[in-house]
Amino acid sequence: MEFNIAFIGFGVVGQGLAEILLEQEQELKEKYDFSFKVVAISDAVKGSWYRRSGLDLKKLLELVEKQGDLKGFADGIEGWDSIKTIKETNANLILELAWTDLKTGEPAITHVKTALENKKHVVMTNKGPIALAVRELLDLAKKNGVEMRYEGTVLSGTPALNLGLYNLAGSGITQAKGIVNGTTNYILTEMEKGLSYEDALKQAQELGYAEADPTADVEGYDALGKIVILANTVMGANLSKDEPPCEGITNITAEDIAKAKEEGFRWKLIAGAELKEDGSVEAYVRPEKIPLDHPLANIMGPTNALTYTTKYVDEVTIVGPGAGKLPTGFAVLTDMLDINRIVKE
Ligand code: HSE
Repeated sequence: MEFNIAFIGFGVVGQGLAEILLEQEQELKEKYDFSFKVVAISDAVKGSWYRRSGLDLKKLLELVEKQGDLKGFADGIEGWDSIKTIKETNANLILELAWTDLKTGEPAITHVKTALENKKHVVMTNKGPIALAVRELLDLAKKNGVEMRYEGTVLSGTPALNLGLYNLAGSGITQAKGIVNGTTNYILTEMEKGLSYEDALKQAQELGYAEADPTADVEGYDALGKIVILANTVMGANLSKDEPPCEGITNITAEDIAKAKEEGFRWKLIAGAELKEDGSVEAYVRPEKIPLDHPLANIMGPTNALTYTTKYVDEVTIVGPGAGKLPTGFAVLTDMLDINRIVKE
């Protein structure tokens, strides 16, 4: 099927996806019957273009890489804001990749609602709207007969949600537990090597792992948002992100790390969700001392990992990047291919 795509936001993730799309265009068509035209890109800072018959994505990507914005492209209509782009272009698939306030989920929630109400499919990587309003948004998608996907919100392109939702469907998942924040795992790894907490955090920021406000990483809120999304999506929970207990890594000292290692353990920031006997799901984020022979103890640096405990296939662990331009760009592609499969059926 052919999709008319609109990018809302053209930052790192959007550019990563554009790179992948340009590289894979032919293969996506031949192998997966997925054809596309990028008809609009609307970015509040970099500028906006719309062309009904399709924009030259290669040129736009070169432009943004060279000058940091989309000014001077001059092939289409210039200057439509996000809402006008979502409502009035001929796009039937909206990619919500704009900057979002984690506390309010805006403007992403409004973008997603507007798209769904206008019967357009949505893919997003922003955690805010999903952590805050997933049920409402999924209901809205259903009511309007369109699809909404958000694989990139948890472990970026490492298929954490889809593994639980599709591949482990029917396996009897009783628990999901893992390292879902790269910044804190990087800090703990570097502290073990002798770096101070402050220097390790600074490095994580320089390397682009940390959130704009790293408090969200080190206090555990980023991990909490992800485990709530996962529990609600895969384990049928209905948790709000303010409910579960949440503790970050700010109280862990270099001495704690060294002592744990002497005892055969390693401190990790663990996000978990457990299915209880009464069918409810409890989630938490807290530092845990993991035995060195457990797979999660050996996940180092910014790498993420998630272990599903199931009834029929015991423990299944997935390991991979939890952030980054191409991994997160790929998460958007994986969701688009999933929508393509469903819409075709
Ligand atoms: N700040 C996040 C992390 C980025 O460190 O994992 C990906 O959500």
